[in-house]
Amino acid sequence: MEARVENGGSCEVGKSGWGKSLPVPSIQEIMRSDSQSVPQRYIHENKDRPIISEDLADSPEIPVIDFSFLAKGNEDEVQKLHLACKDWGFFQVINHGVKEEILEKMKAAVAAFFELPFQEKKKYAKAENEIEGYGQNFVVSEHQKLDWSDMIYLFTIPSQNRNFKFWPLSLPGFKEALEEYSREMQKIAEELQANFSVLMGLKRDGLKRLQGGELKQGIRMNYYPICSRPDLVLGISPHSDGTSFTLLLQDDDVTGLQIKHNEAWVPVKPIPNSLVVNIGDATEIQSNGMYKSIEHRAIINEKKPRISIATFMFPDDEQEIGPVEAMIDDQNHPKLYRNIKYVDYVREKFSRKMEGKAHTQFAKLRTR
Ligand code: OGA
Ligand code: NI
Repeated sequence: MEARVENGGSCEVGKSGWGKSLPVPSIQEIMRSDSQSVPQRYIHENKDRPIISEDLADSPEIPVIDFSFLAKGNEDEVQKLHLACKDWGFFQVINHGVKEEILEKMKAAVAAFFELPFQEKKKYAKAENEIEGYGQNFVVSEHQKLDWSDMIYLFTIPSQNRNFKFWPLSLPGFKEALEEYSREMQKIAEELQANFSVLMGLKRDGLKRLQGGELKQGIRMNYYPICSRPDLVLGISPHSDGTSFTLLLQDDDVTGLQIKHNEAWVPVKPIPNSLVVNIGDATEIQSNGMYKSIEHRAIINEKKPRISIATFMFPDDEQEIGPVEAMIDDQNHPKLYRNIKYVDYVREKFSRKMEGKAHTQFAKLRTR
């Protein structure tokens, strides 16, 4: 019998107002009972299947940004950041100042959550009409291919957005680890946002002022079980993040994340204790396309499960997102995106399956 993640059943979009997703089985549970099976719903069409290669030596490296230089206002590092956002949309951040212990505690807390018995995890199951909680998102049809992962998504900042019914509070240390990690990510995000502001021709607090306060935050914890046929499945389908930007903490010893660069899939080789940062759709729009929110996906490992922790930084629901004035110049840089209320953008994203950047058309202006 399939271990289904139960749900609340109602069809209206729930409290967060962002969207809904059909309930799906837990792939971790399926693998627990039969680690050799590859159920049909997870087998992707030929064209979408990944090439699994052990040899990563020849693949290009994504840019590395030294956060300690950025925080000191080092001009060369700011320029490096600009090129990383423009040419790659992805970079790894080293020397971010977050204690290794905090990162390790967070990873351990997430590992402990996914190790809980299924009956226990189910207590935090997301409702069909919500996107928060344990389960999976972006499932809009019984016929679509499913991703080889389970997740738990929690809103973390502002603190009044925390829905503790989805938090595994009975798991010792989980709440403390997540809260501490969330605070540290917010600090890094503030500095990055200040740099993005300057690079978009605004004052350091420009983007923050535009949205009338600090960025919101939600943390998505992903668990990718092993699969006997990683060449047939995807851990997470190609997509771009609907965020301002995303900070990803991943296992040091399993490569899974791949990004689309010059039409090829490039693996992101983990640097221990670093964070992977990617530009989200909201920053692509605000920068009028100068910075790209890049398509990415995760592949599965045959021997080792993988955990990743994505911290999504995003604007307020009510903020109008559009290209900032300094990024528009009618002659050379005409406005490429319309202004759109952030909640409307997110609802569009959550109403579709993950399919590359298809959802970003919603904000694009027709160009000649
Ligand atoms: C995500 C994501 C990639 C990964 O959660 O949005 O892209 O490597 N995760 O887990
Ligand atoms: Ni993503």
